[in-house]
Amino acid sequence: MPLVTTTEMFKKAYHGGYAVGAFNVNNMEIVQGITEACQEQKAPVILQVSKGARAYANHTYLVKMVEAAIKECPDVPIALHLDHGTDFEICKSCIDGGFTSVMFDGSAMPYEDNVKVAKQVVEYAHAHGVVVEAELGQLAGVEDDVVAEDHQYTDPAQVQDFVERTGVDSLAIAIGTSHGAYKFKPGQKPQLRFDILEDVSKRLPEFPIVLHGASSVPQDFVAKVNQYGGAMPDAIGIPEEMLRQAAESAVCKINIDSDIRLAITAAIREHFAVHPADFDPRQYLKPARQAVKDMVTHKLINVLGCNGKA
Ligand code: G3H
Ligand code: 13P
Ligand code: ZN
Repeated sequence: MPLVTTTEMFKKAYHGGYAVGAFNVNNMEIVQGITEACQEQKAPVILQVSKGARAYANHTYLVKMVEAAIKECPDVPIALHLDHGTDFEICKSCIDGGFTSVMFDGSAMPYEDNVKVAKQVVEYAHAHGVVVEAELGQLAGVEDDVVAEDHQYTDPAQVQDFVERTGVDSLAIAIGTSHGAYKFKPGQKPQLRFDILEDVSKRLPEFPIVLHGASSVPQDFVAKVNQYGGAMPDAIGIPEEMLRQAAESAVCKINIDSDIRLAITAAIREHFAVHPADFDPRQYLKPARQAVKDMVTHKLINVLGCNGKA
C-alpha cells in the first residue's frame, strides 16, 4: 500500500484505546528493524525523520528506504513524518518531498508566532493532502543539541484556541516527558501530569494528542551498555505502565527514538566485546538491527497496544 497520512490511524487509535508508535529513522537497519516488527505484528507505524536525520542520511535516501519498506512490508500502513520542523521552509520541503505528515514545532516561539506559522504550514500541507502536528508547552531535555532544563507544561486553557485558529490535525503536549535518556534524576519518582492530559482531552474531544520524549530507557540495555565499556550512569525513562495508561487515553502517537539508539548501542558494544576480531560491519549491524526489531515488537504488544490493528 502507498504511504498514508495519520488521519485514519489516529481515528482508530483514539476509539480503540491504543497508540501508534512514531519511531525515528536514520539508517537502513533502523528502517528494517522497525518495519519488520510491524509487518509481523500487523501494526500501523509512523516513521519519523528529524532535521538531524536529513542532515545525516539525506532526504532522498530516507524516502527511498521508506519506499523499500512499503514494498517489503505490504501489510503495514506507514506514515512518513517530519519530526520537529522548526520553520515553514523545512515543513514545505518535506511536503514537497513526499512526506505525508509534518510536525511544525513552534513550542519555543511566543504563542502568537506559533499560531501564525502553524496556520501557514497547515494551509500549505492541507492543500497537498498532508497532515500537521504542532506543539504547545515545552519538553525538558536534549533536542537537536539544545538542552532545556525545565518542563514548561502545556496550559490547557490555550489548546482550544490554538487548534481552532491553526487547523492542526494533532497536538503534542508537555506533561513531564522529555527527550533523551535522562528523563528523571536518580532517586526521583517518575511522574507525569495526567491531570493536564485529561483536561486537554476534555477541551478537545476526539482530538489526537501526541507524546514526545516517550522512550522507556529499558534498564537491560543500559546495563549492557555500561557492562561493555559504555558510560550511561543513571539513564532513566518513562515507566512502561505510564505509557500504557497514556496509550489508552487521547494519546494516539507515542514518539520513540532514544530506545532505538540504546538497543543499537548495547548490541554493538556487546558484539565488539565478545567478538573483538570482527571487522565486517554486517557482523555487528545484524544483531543491532535484530535488537531494534525485538525492542519494537515488545513496544507494539506491551506498551502501545497497536499490534493487530493494521
Ligand atoms: O526529538 C528529537 C529526536 O530524538 C530526534 O533527535 O534531532 O538528534 O535526530 P535528532
Ligand atoms: P525519546 O528521546 O524519549 O525517544 O523521544 C523521541 C522524540 O520525542 C522524538 O520526537
Ligand atoms: Zn520529540
